[in-house]
Amino acid sequence: MMAIDNAASIRTIGVLGAGTMGTGIAQTAARAGFDVILCDLDRAIVERSVATMDQFLRKAVEKGKLAEADRAAALARVRGTADRADLAGADLVVEAIVERLDAKREAFRALDGLCRPEVILASNTSSISITEIAAATGRPDRVVGMHFFNPVPVMQLVEIVRGHYTSDATVAAVRGLAARLGKETVLCRKDSPGFIVNRILMPMLAEAMRLLEEGVATPEDVDKAVQLGLNHPMGPFTLADFIGLDVDYYVMDYLYSEFRDPRFAPPRVLKELIRAGRLGRKNGRGFYDYGHGPRMC
Ligand code: 3HC
Repeated sequence: MMAIDNAASIRTIGVLGAGTMGTGIAQTAARAGFDVILCDLDRAIVERSVATMDQFLRKAVEKGKLAEADRAAALARVRGTADRADLAGADLVVEAIVERLDAKREAFRALDGLCRPEVILASNTSSISITEIAAATGRPDRVVGMHFFNPVPVMQLVEIVRGHYTSDATVAAVRGLAARLGKETVLCRKDSPGFIVNRILMPMLAEAMRLLEEGVATPEDVDKAVQLGLNHPMGPFTLADFIGLDVDYYVMDYLYSEFRDPRFAPPRVLKELIRAGRLGRKNGRGFYDYGHGPRMC
């Protein structure tokens, strides 16, 4: 059996889940020269994902940042499928499905049965325990977190997360792979909720929402303060909308349930907006209304 511990031997990357993150991961991998098997159980989502990639690659050509031949070649390297069995051809799989433990465990159990035993199974989870996901497989040493950031083609970082049983060889392989994708890595040495970035980000977003709840400042002014006073590219309300309010809520709630620390507790305003169907930029309405220009709801 050939061991695929060495990043250089990874040629085909499987991506399970063709939402925003899966699309970004697939696009980044294809541009870096990998063959990509992009799988989502919903065929329409796969088609939309490939169309989105095509749109971004065409924009890059228009801006003179990508040669037309390279655009066509990158897109040709992506094979979309609605059949998980097709992932059997991958040398490494990155899972980017819905952020629910039961769904991830089911997916990893299936991948464990489909993929060659030496194949590394990585999760793009933003908070869920890698150890718990890995327990659904017979290869916990080859299960690892690869946490990408949105928009994946632009953001430089990948957080590598070590589960309890993740081997050194697996960590080395995914660090090498991230480098081949043009990314910087940090290593989360413990499988700790929220890893590094979300442990810092979520209390910041929650605190901004509490400023709003207390009537201290408007979202516009909080965003302006953080952009101009801290030089962040986006203020916290714009960023919360960009991530998706349902995702923000889920991650905060998970951190709160794990740490029992009120600084992670999702603020009421977040729940209210979600109940009102405002999920952020993805459905046109969150803290701001994107259909009619940035405006507080
Ligand atoms: N795919 C590919 N390229 C994209 C893209 C996408 N989805 N979105 C933007 N881009 C590209 C644009 O084409 C543009 O490319 P160019 O420089 O070659 O022309 C470049 O990114 C910059 O985009 P824009 O000019 O449209 O806009 P900005 O300069 O305002 O940058 C931004 C947009 C990169 C999103 C910037 O505002 C930013 O960095 N925001 C913060 C994002 C952030 O914090 N992300 C992390 C979220 S947390 C997370 O993901 C973790 C999760 O677990 C919660």
